[in-house]
Amino acid sequence: MTPPNHKTAFANVALGLLCLAYAYWTLSRRAEAFGIGTTHASTNTTGCYQFGKVLSLVEFDHGSGSFRPFTQELRVHGFDIYWDSLEPTLLTFAVVNHQQSGSGVSIFRHRIGTKVLWHVKTVKSPLLYAPNDVVATSHNTFYATNDMRSTNSIMRKIEIFFGMPWGHIVHYNHAGVFSVAASGISYPNGIARSADGSSVYVAASSEPSVIVFRPAVDGTLEPMGKTVFRDFIPDNVSVDTATGQVLVAGFLNTFEMFRYNREVLGGTSARPAGAVRRLRPLADPRKGFAEESVLTHDGALLPATTSATLQRRSGTQRILLGSVMANHIAICRVGDSARA
Ligand SMILES: *[C@@H]1O[C@H](CO)[C@@H](O)[C@H](O)[C@H]1NC(C)=O
Repeated sequence: MTPPNHKTAFANVALGLLCLAYAYWTLSRRAEAFGIGTTHASTNTTGCYQFGKVLSLVEFDHGSGSFRPFTQELRVHGFDIYWDSLEPTLLTFAVVNHQQSGSGVSIFRHRIGTKVLWHVKTVKSPLLYAPNDVVATSHNTFYATNDMRSTNSIMRKIEIFFGMPWGHIVHYNHAGVFSVAASGISYPNGIARSADGSSVYVAASSEPSVIVFRPAVDGTLEPMGKTVFRDFIPDNVSVDTATGQVLVAGFLNTFEMFRYNREVLGGTSARPAGAVRRLRPLADPRKGFAEESVLTHDGALLPATTSATLQRRSGTQRILLGSVMANHIAICRVGDSARA
């Protein structure tokens, strides 16, 4: 055996430095993607105010014909309401329900004008292990996002941090069968679809992008195009059915958000900023979207923004802002630039 000579020692040091440089480069790129250390001033928020309070849940007791407190386990994450013109007074709620016994999608029906929301079924599948959001495609079918591959919290942190493209979208069909509709997505989060059902939009938070998919008859989703964001982490998407535009809610400083989550119970000074972007699907879906900023808030209105929906009512438009970390929503009056 020969002792290591200067040449190999030098090669080892050089290799070590190269690895360090690579690690530093990767970490600084991820740090940039997370908006670490950035602060944000409010723009276009003068027409915004806070709204809402915590509601208590009730369920309908058929025996006594009256409401009673809801006792079943319902831990809501994303949900969607399906409606079609064939039966305009019937609504189906598809709700991601994180029950202790495992996550699933709970289906409820509501007849407009009544005060009950009745439970039809809760469906679960090994394919649906980390559901985040759901979009109903009929009274009986839906797509749901599985945001990550791991269910273990340390692995989930690693998966988020490195933006691994390990998320899936699952489809639940008329026969009650689950299948994987699309895979290889970095943290598929909010999901929505166009009014005619020809496009499905998914926020891939870790990429960070919004992807357009074309649904096939068998339920598979073919990726068509996407828009990748800078300085914005998309969380949820909603469709403005009047224009076909997609509203994207997101946050700007992920670490401020994590800090808020950690400290909120003890009272926190964290003010995670939030933003809403508007995407106009381009004629060629492979080109993705034209992108426009709707508003940015500094976090005083609500902690970040993880959902945004446009409400049109008698000629005025309001954007309803929600946050998974807030006990209220915010409402913003916005100018009508949606026709652009
Ligand atoms: C995403 O937004 C849609 C539309 O506003 C909403 O129905 C859904 O519950 C939201 N999902 C999450 C996880 O916040």
